[in-house]
Amino acid sequence: MTYASYEPARASEPLIDAEVRSATFSDIQALARIAASRGGAVDSHVAGFADALGEPGVIVLIALVEGTPAGWTGAREIDAEGDPGTWMTTGLTVVPAWRRRGIASQLLEAVAASVSSAGGERLVSVANARNRASLDLHLEVGFTEVERAASFLAIEFDGGEGVVFERALD
Ligand SMILES: CC(C)(COP(=O)(O)OP(=O)(O)OC[C@H]1O[C@@H](n2cnc3c(N)ncnc32)[C@H](O)[C@@H]1OP(=O)(O)O)[C@@H](O)C(=O)NCCC(=O)NCCS
Repeated sequence: MTYASYEPARASEPLIDAEVRSATFSDIQALARIAASRGGAVDSHVAGFADALGEPGVIVLIALVEGTPAGWTGAREIDAEGDPGTWMTTGLTVVPAWRRRGIASQLLEAVAASVSSAGGERLVSVANARNRASLDLHLEVGFTEVERAASFLAIEFDGGEGVVFERALD
């Protein structure tokens, strides 16, 4: 998996207003191309999106800039012991050409709103501790770090450390 290079001092490009909407089956190829910008062949992502889009209780959002697919994220309810109503973000990716324009922030805001509408109470998100761009992003959009661990649910973090964030929902 390729992380964005960490450039905290970089001046932001002008923010861009993406269209963020629920993805449909007709978006599968676009979603797979976005996911492949982060790693893997386009075809290797198709089946995963086809399954996710057919599954109840799974959210998949796509961001478009002037009709061009630019990013995606999703969420699914997780079985957090004693803590029903907990969802976890999935897959957050913005294609390199559209990074640093506020699109990931808009996707995370939109997925928080979608989970809230679905009755979720708490949104969890995880990032590799080496992915400093993602760590800063999560703090920027109102997540709080709750723990660092070698694994979370079925996810084993490369390099041995991941960061678990959470955000309360309205
Ligand atoms: C991480 C990622 C999703 C960010 O997407 P983005 O659309 O560029 O993010 P935004 O423009 O919304 O950034 C919001 C804030 O996050 C932080 N941030 C984002 N990218 C950063 C970077 N490369 N270096 C440092 N901080 C960064 C900044 O605080 C930024 O605000 P600023 O631009 O005003 O300084 C994108 O780089 C990506 O797809 N990376 C590869 C996949 C990945 O790591 N996904 C996250 C998995 S947990």
